[in-house]
Amino acid sequence: MGTFAVTGAASGIGAATARLLEDAGHTVIGVDLRNARIEADLGTAAGRRAAVDGILSVSGGTLDGVAAIAGVGPDLKDAGAVMSINYFGPVALLDGLRPALAATGAGRAVAISSNSASTVPLVDEELAGLALAGDEHAARDRARAAQAGLPPELAASAPSITAYATSKLALARWVRRTAVTPAWAREGVLLNAIAPGAVLTPLMRGSTDGAADRDVDEFPTPMPLGVFGEPEDIAFWVHQFLRPEARFATGAVLFVDGGTDAAMRPDGY
Ligand code: NAI
Repeated sequence: MGTFAVTGAASGIGAATARLLEDAGHTVIGVDLRNARIEADLGTAAGRRAAVDGILSVSGGTLDGVAAIAGVGPDLKDAGAVMSINYFGPVALLDGLRPALAATGAGRAVAISSNSASTVPLVDEELAGLALAGDEHAARDRARAAQAGLPPELAASAPSITAYATSKLALARWVRRTAVTPAWAREGVLLNAIAPGAVLTPLMRGSTDGAADRDVDEFPTPMPLGVFGEPEDIAFWVHQFLRPEARFATGAVLFVDGGTDAAMRPDGY
């Protein structure tokens, strides 16, 4: 049985993923702010270092897989923190754990992006560029400036919407750029992203102003399957990417969103 690190393990999609892996007999090293084996704030450089060190210490330096799931929603008031937690957190964690994944010869890594990256019109390309350049300080400043320019209604309900969608776009691009580099691909470490849509978790309930508790057909984005997702619906696909048998997919971004992205951008491919 394998050893897997899962961030965001205390709630929602991360908790469902940890449960699925444990039920399959694996050892899970959960990371979260609270209620996890390793408690660390992935929004800070010190917290990321502590998380990587803690995982390496518990695992003995060898990992079968990493699922970087922890994140915050667009309702967070500090758009700079959204960039730090949703982009710089998973990137530092995955980079830091790459050698432990390479040590098995068949490591697997998954990052959680979002269909907001392709369906929210407020994505800021310059902000994505700053993130991909690794400039956290400038990215935080730019995210806060974008926040200040939002129309009042949006600023009240989703103050970090630009940072949220852009952090998830940048993360998907980072996965695509990184997965094909020799340090990952030729070391047998496969790296993929999942882009969920509306999934019933505390994050979604906090971010959608109660829309999740109303009729699915009144949701702001189309939901072709007529249902919201459950955390287990995403955990299933995370698990597939983490399996050793998942041998030929790397740099993929898989929409698991009930059809929202396909409905909104049928020709966006
Ligand atoms: P959730 O709120 O249920 O779980 C997120 C977990 O991340 C929480 O346990 C939280 O404590 C942890 N976390 C937040 N900030 C952290 C930090 N600084 N350091 C360490 N841990 C931190 O939310 P959910 O929905 O399970 O979200 C998981 C991921 O899925 C997130 O990256 C989110 O952006 C993404 N996502 C969720 C969607 C949804 O509709 N629920 C849609 C698209 C993407």
